[in-house]
Amino acid sequence: MRKKIFVTHQLPGERIHHLAKRSEMNVWMGPGLLPAETLREELNACQGLLCMLTDRIDRQLLEALPNLEFVSSMSVGVDHVDVAALTERGIPLGHTPGVLVDTTADATFALLLAAARRVVEADRFVRAGQWRAENAWSPEFFTGKDVSGATLGIIGLGEIGQAVARRALGFGMQVLAWNRSPREVEGVQNVTLEELLLRSDFVSVNVARTSDTYNLLDGPKIAMMKPGAVLVNTARGGIVNEMALYEALSRGDLYSAGIDVFEQEPVSQDNPLLSLPNVVVVPHIGSATTLTRARMADLAVDNTIAALEGQPMPHCVNPEVYSF
Ligand code: DGY
Repeated sequence: MRKKIFVTHQLPGERIHHLAKRSEMNVWMGPGLLPAETLREELNACQGLLCMLTDRIDRQLLEALPNLEFVSSMSVGVDHVDVAALTERGIPLGHTPGVLVDTTADATFALLLAAARRVVEADRFVRAGQWRAENAWSPEFFTGKDVSGATLGIIGLGEIGQAVARRALGFGMQVLAWNRSPREVEGVQNVTLEELLLRSDFVSVNVARTSDTYNLLDGPKIAMMKPGAVLVNTARGGIVNEMALYEALSRGDLYSAGIDVFEQEPVSQDNPLLSLPNVVVVPHIGSATTLTRARMADLAVDNTIAALEGQPMPHCVNPEVYSF
């Protein structure tokens, strides 16, 4: 008998059709985010789940699903899933590493450049009809901050951090990095987190969110940043303390910020960071290109098909479940 699986969003890419042939597949057609209650109901009779990073797969949900055999997430980050709870049950969790590395590094640089050169502020200025003869080019007009020759500090030197480093070296930046276990990467100097914050003109957050990195950049750490520095976060919300960042930006301690990810997503309109003209915000689109999203969907399907066939998932977060 074919296994039942639930897919929490329509997927791009081609391989989803293979999945439909191998399982009894039900897909949430939306619109919008899947409500938690619907997820629980839909999963009741299912052996498999293919989910998005917007679906919260916590212990309470898992306890209500005695039939669940595998989970595949179309994301590289898995902070929305209680991995320990899955592992205790011997349930493998798949994710989608590798395919989004360059796309996310590009997005990091897009935010870095936009925050350094006031691109969004200048765009708003032109559209608002403020670019007039009495308010036009002058030596100080929309001056920003140089990227070339500046020092970039990368927090988290995994695949995405390394791809950010390659771009920074191409821009003529000096590159520092902090990683829990230092990694030798050409052109990159390993330093402590404190030294990175003290020396960097730009800081890019590229570390996964775990219990260790939650609130990693808290008030005291942000206060260590070089005066006039720029902060970019394309990793996960919650790693940077948003209120402390807001205060540092409002006081003028930091020059600007580029933010793709928030602790609460979608971000509340009341979030004070949205009130600052020197903050560039985008809605968690680090990996959002058509090709990369299709590749992520294909990897998520590959993981699901392997699980349906009783094989180890090719990209498994908790491979120890296979040795139980
Ligand atoms: C992921 O896959 O974890 C990314 O955040 C998606 O952009």
